[in-house]
Amino acid sequence: QANERESLYLVSEFAKEYFHKTLLTTEEGKAIGLSYFKERGFTQETIDAFTLGYSPDSWDAFTNHAIKKAYKLEFLEKTGLTIVKGEKQFDRFKGRVMFPILSMSGRTLGFGGRILTNDKKAAKYLNSPESDIYHKSKVLYGIYHAKKAIAKEDNCYLVEGYTDVIQFYQRGIENVVSSSGTALTPEQIRLINRLTKNITVLFDGDAAGLRASLRGVDLILEQGMNVKICTFPEGEDPDSFAKNNSLEEVTLFLEENAQDFIAFKASLLASEAKNDPIKKAETIRDMVVSIAKIPDVIKREVYIKECSRIMDISEEVLFNTLAQILQKEN
Ligand code: CTP
Ligand code: MN
Ligand code: MN
Ligand code: MN
Ligand code: MN
Repeated sequence: QANERESLYLVSEFAKEYFHKTLLTTEEGKAIGLSYFKERGFTQETIDAFTLGYSPDSWDAFTNHAIKKAYKLEFLEKTGLTIVKGEKQFDRFKGRVMFPILSMSGRTLGFGGRILTNDKKAAKYLNSPESDIYHKSKVLYGIYHAKKAIAKEDNCYLVEGYTDVIQFYQRGIENVVSSSGTALTPEQIRLINRLTKNITVLFDGDAAGLRASLRGVDLILEQGMNVKICTFPEGEDPDSFAKNNSLEEVTLFLEENAQDFIAFKASLLASEAKNDPIKKAETIRDMVVSIAKIPDVIKREVYIKECSRIMDISEEVLFNTLAQILQKEN
């Protein structure tokens, strides 16, 4: 229903401004939230650009304020900003720094909220639940800020998290978006596909980041897009790397380390099991499975040749394997 969705947008917009104002003007917000962001290296300009915020450490401060301003409890609950339990109402986000999630056109859809302690038991990020306006499989954090630069640069950097997007943007690399902790989906890739055919996946320098980049590759190829992968040094993510290096250094690092998917898979094999023939065979098959996802026949052939060269195996065998895989799929 269009009217109800409009009400959810309005209450989300109100919450975004409330959290932002709380960060910038209250004693608690400044002492806890603002100093946290400053410590992470975010400038005031960046904090304003992304409308970063702070949710007070209180059971119901936000909800009470919203109701006083005549926002209906029904819509507060439907956006997940308020949790209703019988007669009682609670704020979902308490004592967290807030990252509003915007649509391509800049409407507020939901929030991610980060705890400030390093309490390993609590989830680091709490996100808005699914609602009529927020479908996490269909949004990309940062897309509103990045869309112009993606089209202009004809490339999109895909990172894991909120702070990766923000730190890159602040460093001067604005064509960057994040899938924000969910496995990359075809809908998310389609959002990028409207702006460019080129994606560079930049995942964290840890095992989880590596697995996530690999999963995304085939989905990107399937949409006829070109994909490169760049991993960061162990223990680093795009946020920490961009925080500690200049724009020139980050740009150079990306240029030197972004590999196409064949080279990326080959280098993984080289680092993990260089002389294991079974692993090598599995890697080659895996490469051909990826190549089979590419709709363009010419590109497929180019990649088969590259695979043959890098893995030192005949093109004939690879073309036969490709044909088998394609036959099975149809
Ligand atoms: N994430 C989440 N819930 C969690 C952990 C992570 O939704 N409990 C999502 C967030 O969008 C986060 C992204 O996954 O930004 C990547 O996770 P991670 O690399 O662990 O976090 P960072 O973005 O690096 O966060 P920080 O630098 O603040 O620790
Ligand atoms: Mn502002
Ligand atoms: Mn990670
Ligand atoms: Mn990370
Ligand atoms: Mn991080």
